[in-house]
Amino acid sequence: MITSLTHVLGTRPNLVKAAPVVAALDDLDQTVVHTGQHYDEKMSKVFFDDLGMPEPDVNLGVGSGGHAEQTAAVMVGLEREFLRRTPDLVVVYGDVNSTIAAALVAAKLHIPVAHVEAGLRSFDMTMPEEVNRRLTDQLSDLCFVTSPEAIGHLANEGVPVARAHFVGNPMIDTLLANLDRFDTGRVRAAHGLPERYVLATMHRPANVDAPGTAAALVRHLHGVADLADLVIPVHPRGRATLLAAGLDEHPRVHVLEPLGYIDFIAAVRGAAAVVTDSGGLQEETTILGVPCLTVRPNTERPITITHGTNRLVTFEELVPAAAKALGGTERPDRTPPLWDGHAGVRIADVVRRWTGVA
Ligand code: UD1
Repeated sequence: MITSLTHVLGTRPNLVKAAPVVAALDDLDQTVVHTGQHYDEKMSKVFFDDLGMPEPDVNLGVGSGGHAEQTAAVMVGLEREFLRRTPDLVVVYGDVNSTIAAALVAAKLHIPVAHVEAGLRSFDMTMPEEVNRRLTDQLSDLCFVTSPEAIGHLANEGVPVARAHFVGNPMIDTLLANLDRFDTGRVRAAHGLPERYVLATMHRPANVDAPGTAAALVRHLHGVADLADLVIPVHPRGRATLLAAGLDEHPRVHVLEPLGYIDFIAAVRGAAAVVTDSGGLQEETTILGVPCLTVRPNTERPITITHGTNRLVTFEELVPAAAKALGGTERPDRTPPLWDGHAGVRIADVVRRWTGVA
């Protein structure tokens, strides 16, 4: 019988996905390891506080670095940790470098792996996340999927169907559990924001790393700001290039520091539209009914287009699409199946059955 679990978290979105899973398994012997991939107070601690999660038992403090450097540092730290505590199951989340690092270490130590948010595919191997997802799924004994098509993706890659469990979306569990706390008026007052605004987030390497691309993006974001005030909490990844390109030089652009979970979703809830390259925000806007323009050539979350408010746009399409979104009133009323607030409990049920605890 298996009773001890280690959850491995590294970045902001990992925390949002893990909160309901950790809560639903709280009768088991659980350890939470934070790799320290995200480390600034505003990128990490604020999220633990906002989500009411206990402090991690261990923080590896790996910090930033190139892909090899960061992934390797997480692996070295986790191997030590897993040898010291030897969990019966390691639970990993999403598609970040900490996710693949944890799955690799666990597999080599013959510790079973559960992957929360398995089977998503952008089919774009230039994204580090796509590499991380594919490899993590190959190494996972339990694949928890958020939308039905993910099971087909796993099957196409030879993952036995019996490993896949369609459980819904734990990120949406967290959103629904906190709905009463998203007070847009309070966030507007705290940051001096206008009544009507577009909220933007940009951090994908393909959009913000190269100064030329970042400058082109800023020109189009300024085009959106010509239509409505643009509020942009800036992720540290894009800060230097976007500001060097003059992001904050438009009078209707409001550059903010990264926001905590509650303030951020409150700001999203009150937005007339969202412009983003984030994965999770495509899902959160779908549930909140806020039009979402995703500045990417692809998405691993097509259900947010078929069932939600999401639309993929190029740089050139962004301003006309924003004009249309700002003028529109339609709000899709289809919710993706099982995005109902109970994914964490379903994951816990599968884990219990699988481990023989139930
Ligand atoms: C990572 C994930 C990405 C996810 C994002 C969520 C990978 C490959 N990418 O991207 O999939 O969408 O997290 O936010 O795992 N930095 C700070 N303070 C921090 C963390 C980062 O200043 O607390 C800066 C550093 O300069 C660092 C850069 O941001 O070099 C990028 O951080 P990193 O964790 O490598 O990747 P993200 O872009 O955050």
